[in-house]
Amino acid sequence: MKIFYSLIVFFALIFQSHLIGEGVEILPLEVISYEDFIQNDANAIQVLQNALYKKGIVGIRGIPTYAEKVENFVKTYQAFLLLPNEAKQAVAPNHDLGETFLGYEEGKERFKGPDGRWLIDDLKISYYALIPENQKNKWPLDCDLQTAFQDLGAIMVDTAQLVMKKIHLIGPSTGIFIEDTPKVGRMLYYQKKGDTHRENPFWCGAHFDHAMFTALTPATYFTRGNCTSEPDEAGLFVKVGEKYKKVLADPEVLMFQVGEFGQLVTDDAIRATKHRVHKAHSKEVERYAMAVFFNPPMETIIHSYSELTQDDRYSGQAGDPCSYEHWNDETFKRFIVK
Ligand SMILES: [Fe+2]
Repeated sequence: MKIFYSLIVFFALIFQSHLIGEGVEILPLEVISYEDFIQNDANAIQVLQNALYKKGIVGIRGIPTYAEKVENFVKTYQAFLLLPNEAKQAVAPNHDLGETFLGYEEGKERFKGPDGRWLIDDLKISYYALIPENQKNKWPLDCDLQTAFQDLGAIMVDTAQLVMKKIHLIGPSTGIFIEDTPKVGRMLYYQKKGDTHRENPFWCGAHFDHAMFTALTPATYFTRGNCTSEPDEAGLFVKVGEKYKKVLADPEVLMFQVGEFGQLVTDDAIRATKHRVHKAHSKEVERYAMAVFFNPPMETIIHSYSELTQDDRYSGQAGDPCSYEHWNDETFKRFIVK
């Protein structure tokens, strides 16, 4: 009998360890060490590959100087946000000149809510720049955002590119080579102003990233100017099976997700990661995170047999040719609010 009760307590503890406030379920994130990754440790690479193929997300811990570069970047970005509005608008894309997205941008994306209605992410502020440094990038004059952005971006690019090679998403097996293609860095900041939680419970609605692959930092949170821990109810949630599960923000871990073009290129062997970002209940909480997106060259043409070829953004049927440029343009048309 004693053993029976011990077993109940044991299973109750296991169950509890995956649930936190309000029934939020935690996704156990596979994390491998940078050392093992660089040494090409067969076991670690297997864990990395399985996690990306089964859950669509994986982490690498212990990348030299990574955590301090994230911290420095968040601090620098906060200094940028304190600049007068004119200084920020001066680095916003000039759509009249045909500039599409590089620089500072408020809101603009829309996502389908749980009831199927389109919702606009009104609390989102982004800063886009190409990595490595590119003459098209826009930078503020009164704050050295460029150095902090590129320093962190370089680490994310180098590590993610290696991950993509090791799981054969780029290289001879897919015929896609991205070394010379600029990567797209995006600083994401979710503002605290306004309590919009009831109309839209997400800082960022459910979606797939449309490129091949994404590297992302864990989020940093601030409450009234102080760095605070991640609220139980808030953060990155990834869809695994039928459920969205929370990925805990660990400042030492760089994470990776799969994008739709990665799924197209591999004919569904690897699947894009569906994810969303839940808002904090408190309207005092702000959130910062950096993502880097990995595109193939725009002129890349694939003949995919993925189920994603049924999406209107694919030009034609399964097996028909579709360029990345087409997929990219159609995605922007669907999700960007003019
Ligand atoms: Fe995303």
